[in-house]
Amino acid sequence: MCGIIGIASNKSVSINIINALKKLEYRGYDSAGLATITKGEINEKKCPGRVEKLEKILFQNPSEGKLGIGHVRWATHGVPNKVNAHPHSSEIVSVVHNGIIENSDELKKKLEISGQIFKSQTDTEVITILLTEKLKKLDPLNAVFETLDMLKGSFALGIIFKNFQDFVIGARRGSPLAVGYSNNENYLGSDSYALKSMTNKISYLDDGDVCLLSKDQIKFYNSKKEKINKEIFTLSDDKSSVSKGNYKNFMIKEIFEQPISIKTCLKEYIDKIREEINFYNLPINPKDIEKIVLIGCGTAYHSCLVAKYWLEELTSLTIETDIASEFRYRKVRFDKKALYIFVSQSGETADTYAALDICKKQNVKTCSIINVVESSIARHSDCVLPIHAGPEIGVASTKAFLGQMLVLYLLSLKISESRKDIDQIQYKRKIIDLKKLPSLITETLKEEEKIQLIAKDIYTSKGSMFLGRGSSFPIALEGALKLKELSYLHAEGYPAGEMKHGPLALIEDGLPVVVIAPKDKYFEKTISNMQEVIARGGKILLITNSVGQVISENVRFQIDLPESDLSLTPFLFSVPLQLLSYHVALFKKCDIDKPRNLAKSVTVE
Ligand code: M6R
Repeated sequence: MCGIIGIASNKSVSINIINALKKLEYRGYDSAGLATITKGEINEKKCPGRVEKLEKILFQNPSEGKLGIGHVRWATHGVPNKVNAHPHSSEIVSVVHNGIIENSDELKKKLEISGQIFKSQTDTEVITILLTEKLKKLDPLNAVFETLDMLKGSFALGIIFKNFQDFVIGARRGSPLAVGYSNNENYLGSDSYALKSMTNKISYLDDGDVCLLSKDQIKFYNSKKEKINKEIFTLSDDKSSVSKGNYKNFMIKEIFEQPISIKTCLKEYIDKIREEINFYNLPINPKDIEKIVLIGCGTAYHSCLVAKYWLEELTSLTIETDIASEFRYRKVRFDKKALYIFVSQSGETADTYAALDICKKQNVKTCSIINVVESSIARHSDCVLPIHAGPEIGVASTKAFLGQMLVLYLLSLKISESRKDIDQIQYKRKIIDLKKLPSLITETLKEEEKIQLIAKDIYTSKGSMFLGRGSSFPIALEGALKLKELSYLHAEGYPAGEMKHGPLALIEDGLPVVVIAPKDKYFEKTISNMQEVIARGGKILLITNSVGQVISENVRFQIDLPESDLSLTPFLFSVPLQLLSYHVALFKKCDIDKPRNLAKSVTVE
């Protein structure tokens, strides 16, 4: 993943680099570094760990210089230590890199044969060495273009040069890169969010583009080295706070923000007066759609799975779901009458972007459901449906998941109504029920204390299982993902009906098993599956909305959620699972907002 930043200015840049790197930490946080041109030399400082540590190093030994690059790393090649941290510098050039150089081993072997010595285990150092060689004969721009020609894979680069101290070079292939404009200062960054505190004027590089950025101008070139112009976007003035406020960490703040984020999103899509769902810009008339394909990764993929149940229930369409990293390499038959929907919080997930790009090249209709409206996926798709959740900082996705499901549910209802699969009475009733969702979530959040007790009871367990049927099955998957991600406790999500086909063998005395059983058409079946688990010693945490009814004496814990339209249970049943993973992780003293080995935005495949 990794985040990169570059600044050319008429004043010292290191503090601004550090501040931008803090914003980019969602892309990786296992090491950090920066390089400036100080007194005519490349001055590199780096360390394993967070940007805070780098800041302390700079506090003791400041890096002066009006030109610099910075990096936060999510390790792909080589362990997270100081040597592998970026920048990777020679005497004359310094490079920061986001992405993967797929032919780095091959290039490294050739360079080693010709006598080059590598200090690190990274793929990036290949670029530094190639550039150093090329700069013996070529000017920086041509040296960069010749080096890029030798690289395979996806990357965004920031480069500074000892002998050319007026500019930073940026290059993009596959990984996102933005530039920002200001007075006597220009910027390069992995995304506009990192640049937002410094400027609201942004341009985006396209694949193959290279830019040359000095303090007072930015020049752009396409992959054929032709000079090009770029559109300048003015970023929206997003006043939503990105501070923790009185909360312990971002995750719990984001969980408790859900009633508000859902309310905001409902306001954006439901016309108050006509009680009507508005989707003005769909690239295909719902009446002409024959198939819907939903694509995403991780939590976003789980929202696609939930939507499959809704769409199948509400429409007569064929619905497919796909994990982006699988879709992009399969021999998919594309369908001109299908709508391909891409779901992503960040809008920068490499696999989801690649899957979208494949669809675009096939000329099929695309639509993205995203949170970050300035993101690469949003800009590349035919139509964008924002989830209006506001910035999500915690690595574990919570409010974005509910937001993704909400837009998918609204879309399901709208498509169903447009195609006359449901009648007007049903449609209007569903909208009225949907508007109750924020207060139902507020009600559900009141279960926190009980969930804290459950977390205390299970946090020392070796593993756990999450079971559900119907749309509660993807919610089980999501609950298990949250628990593993945050607390490093093994968790399996399973369709309850599949247990007897193998996973039942895992059940032993005291194994926590979370059973998600709303009072829907699957309820009795799920409860029978739960009894099979009880009979084998499983410790049951039952989440239901059976209004206080005792389902079984042998249930260790029962959480009763408010009654709602059954289509809404995926929203409500997600909330206790978010709280459970949060409290288990707190008991285990895990880093809640930055779980180990992960990053918020997964920009490598
Ligand atoms: O930004 P995206 O929604 O595309 O991210 C997809 C996944 O990486 C993400 O949902 C991940 O699974 C979360 N960390 C889960 O909490």
